[in-house]
Amino acid sequence: MDFRKTVATKVSEATGLDFETVNRLIEIPPQEDMGDFAFPCFTLAKTMHKAPNMIASELSSDDRVSDPCFSRVEAKGPYLNFFVDRGEYARAVLSEVMKAGTDYGSSEEGTGKTVIVEYSSPNIAKPFHVGHAFTTILGHSLARIYEKLGYSVVRMNHLGDYGTQFGKLITAYRLWGDESALNADPITELLRIYVKFHEEEKNDPSLTTSARENFKKLEEGCEEEVELWKKFRDMSLVVFNKLYDRLGVKFDNYNGESYYAKMADEVVSMLKEKNLLVESEGAQVVDLEEFGVPPCIILKSDGTTIYGTRDIAAILYRDEHYHFDKNIYVVGIPQALHFKQVFSVLKKAGYECADKCEHVGFGLVKFQNMKFSTRDGNIVLLEELLDESVAKTYELIKANAETRKSDMSDEQLREIAEKVGLGAVIYTYVKAGRERDIVFSWDQMLDFEGDTAPYLIYTYARTRSILRKAAEQGVFPAEEGSELLSKLTGDEEFSCAKMIADLPDAIKKAAGSNEPFMVSRSVSNIARAFNRFYNNCSILGGDDLELKRARLSLCRCVCDAIEAGTYLLGISVVEQM
Ligand code: ARG
Repeated sequence: MDFRKTVATKVSEATGLDFETVNRLIEIPPQEDMGDFAFPCFTLAKTMHKAPNMIASELSSDDRVSDPCFSRVEAKGPYLNFFVDRGEYARAVLSEVMKAGTDYGSSEEGTGKTVIVEYSSPNIAKPFHVGHAFTTILGHSLARIYEKLGYSVVRMNHLGDYGTQFGKLITAYRLWGDESALNADPITELLRIYVKFHEEEKNDPSLTTSARENFKKLEEGCEEEVELWKKFRDMSLVVFNKLYDRLGVKFDNYNGESYYAKMADEVVSMLKEKNLLVESEGAQVVDLEEFGVPPCIILKSDGTTIYGTRDIAAILYRDEHYHFDKNIYVVGIPQALHFKQVFSVLKKAGYECADKCEHVGFGLVKFQNMKFSTRDGNIVLLEELLDESVAKTYELIKANAETRKSDMSDEQLREIAEKVGLGAVIYTYVKAGRERDIVFSWDQMLDFEGDTAPYLIYTYARTRSILRKAAEQGVFPAEEGSELLSKLTGDEEFSCAKMIADLPDAIKKAAGSNEPFMVSRSVSNIARAFNRFYNNCSILGGDDLELKRARLSLCRCVCDAIEAGTYLLGISVVEQM
């Protein structure tokens, strides 16, 4: 049962205001003594020609607003405050979760609609660093969130697999490439020869010429060059896919820039036909003054296309193949202007799909007192970050297992450490608004009591262990709809139920704003509320069997809600810890 809906229906009946307006006005009071839902009466003052306080007071004794699901309805100043009947509330919320299990929070709002989520999109032959992890983790989470809401989701990886740098790589590889080094660690080897190319190029202009020629051959489809390029691409993908597999990340489509480069001509002729191309310093550009952004270059003065042209081609391709309702780009904030230009070109060219495209930006990644052994410069590889996190988690849970004299095998501990260690990294990326810079610090991210994945996973494992223990004692949760559930009226129980009830809404809001942190915050609230409940109420103690069963149901629902929520973030839970 949706209590908010009942509030809105009742108020709407009593005042004549339409349901939607009332529903929009309903607030969640900041303090418990102000009730669970509040309706502000200001809007009614005009039509009723009365002071809001007076209206609130009159409504509070109006029979039309009372309902068995409210324990009382009170006026406080201009507000009409609704206090839900806690027992009924717990019963309604928990029954809904029990019915859905880990499907809890699913909806059908997206049925029949297609969302393209483009994320990750690393550059071939370049290291996969912690910045790529930001888009990968955010995009993966957003894709799951949209799916949960019934959208049909297309996951796209717009690989950076095109450009003059491949001409350089081909030249460099022919001169200095080491086949066995390439096989052992492709990206390191490709990076090595790429860096060497730039060093040598300073003293040897013939390298520049050779690279340019090789790129041209590549573009023209010359067999040997294409083959080498393909080799670099495939080998890079092997490295990327290993990371994706580890994170559980998948894509439906790996069409990179090279794929769209072939369609650039069509973009150029389309823009020409519509008379949108103008010359500027030898280049062909689309003027975007009316959109308040600088012109978008389509063709450089040497007649070659650029990054933006390929993005325009990609949107037209996506529009044609997927008829998307939404096309989102999870790409760092520094590319905001680029996307604004690309979308504006299409808008100017009269494509409706331009309005369905959205850039979902994110901030920078920083580190606090963290050293990584293998890298020079500022770049930190995702793999290093994950490995360190898992290693540190392993030490922590191993020490803990020893103190508890647990009989978990080393293999089990390592399996748990892998999930929790990855979770700790993932959570750091999704725990705050995406536009904020994030700061990694081991102390924070591995704090089992903090706002962390280890805390969430630990809480989940705790609920599982309580349920297992209860089953051993022959005690089982009360069923969906059971009267027993209305025994859950304590403060901690009520607050748990409220936090659980908030998850579906948080998921919708996360999709609406492309902010997975709405989900992480909700799951974290559930875990906090549960631990307060756990610390204050004995679940399996006492001899009120009915209360025990009701509390086990609460436990079960917390467990399902955490599992559902962490899944949306890309974090895996464990049965014990
Ligand atoms: N490969 C680019 C980079 O690493 C990101 C691509 C973003 N996506 C796009 N459609 N332009 O910076």
